Amino acid sequence: MARLVKRFRGKPYAVTIGGETKYICGCGLSSTQPFCNGTHKITQSEDPGKLYWYDAEQHRHDAAEDYAGICSDELTRDK
Ligand code: FES
Repeated sequence: MARLVKRFRGKPYAVTIGGETKYICGCGLSSTQPFCNGTHKITQSEDPGKLYWYDAEQHRHDAAEDYAGICSDELTRDK
């Protein structure tokens, strides 16, 4: 099964449990989910008005359409 979900966040969530801080992937691109592995850095030059997808080699591509009704994390955008 596969699904499309828009991710607006370009940085991890810092979570501290028992005095230890872990960084949870917010961009959706980490290969070490649920943890951040630094891959979010490739999103820093994204145009905020555009929609992209990334292939397995982490190359960025323009999305053919904007998928206006698709589920997203827009409410938690880079907070
Ligand atoms: S937030 Fe996704 S790799 Fe860092």
